[in-house]
Amino acid sequence: MEKDILTLGIETSCDETSVAVIKNGREILSNIVDTQIPIHEKYGGVVPEIASRNHIEAITRVTKKALKEANITFKDITAITPTYGPGLVGALLVGVSYAKALSFAIDKPLVGVNHIQGHIASNYITYKELKPPFLCVMMSGGNTQLVYVKGYTEFEVLGKTRDDAIGEAFDKVARVIGLGYPGGPKVDNLAKEGNQNAIQLPKTHFDNLDFSFSGIKTAVINLHHKTPNINKADLCASFEKTVTEILIENTVKALKLIDTNTIVLAGGVSASNFIRSEFLKLEDKGIKVYMPDLKLCTDNAAMIGSAGYYNFINGNTSELDLNAIPNLKL
Ligand code: KG4
Repeated sequence: MEKDILTLGIETSCDETSVAVIKNGREILSNIVDTQIPIHEKYGGVVPEIASRNHIEAITRVTKKALKEANITFKDITAITPTYGPGLVGALLVGVSYAKALSFAIDKPLVGVNHIQGHIASNYITYKELKPPFLCVMMSGGNTQLVYVKGYTEFEVLGKTRDDAIGEAFDKVARVIGLGYPGGPKVDNLAKEGNQNAIQLPKTHFDNLDFSFSGIKTAVINLHHKTPNINKADLCASFEKTVTEILIENTVKALKLIDTNTIVLAGGVSASNFIRSEFLKLEDKGIKVYMPDLKLCTDNAAMIGSAGYYNFINGNTSELDLNAIPNLKL
């Protein structure tokens, strides 16, 4: 019988310190997520310097908890798999440095993981049968892209945002209309009480599969400033409906160009109830739609440990000079 491969996922790219133990890329033995949301809430967004300092304080405690919950010790780990980008550089450096020190100390391979690859892999944990190829609609706080996932470690970006990420637009809208941080879930919740056809909002189209969310974000902000009594629920519902249409239009266009009929959602914004239900409607057209378990949509180390497993078995290991790359591409 083949020996199980246990990866130690380490995620510190933004405001969650997370460490997970993953068995053979698909099974969570532990997934500890220590969120800094309450710390950054009062500033209305993530303060990078404060995020780094809190990762430093949390990382050892979170790692010990992850090992304990998985009922293993360091010697049972096969490979150490930290996120090394994209993200906030100071925050990434905490996880990368910690992983490098650990790799040296316990003499286990180091495997750098691209955070976006991690978000995609959250679906491998949710659906044990899911295999590439498929089209991933990656929607998070820092990225929005359509990725043709040809293999576990082979990606082609078909389209991406030219300005704001979709999550940034959700967060900015929430902040301006006074809903607080993080804005995505708050906009999504308030939208349920509103009329999604109440307000016409602009959509930016390109000839290729790129996105733009800054125009609609600015339109919502201007409307809010110019119309003091505007119904916030209607505004949220109309905003969410329009950005979802933008996502789905490009997704359907992309499917015509590639050899797959499977769509996989990923990233924090894929936790939106409305976006999930609208994408599921595509199943009526014979398209298969997968979406991560809600707990795995936002940042967590389980998805990083899963992606790390696939890097490891494909021989993509890292040296001890691995650095944080804030604008790392797929
Ligand atoms: O994937 P993620 O945790 O971080 C990045 O890797 O960027 O995504 C965070 C983003 C934030 O913009 C947050 O507001 C958004 O995901 N988000 C949501 C929901 N939950 C989180 N957006 C819409 N609806 C939600 N339920």
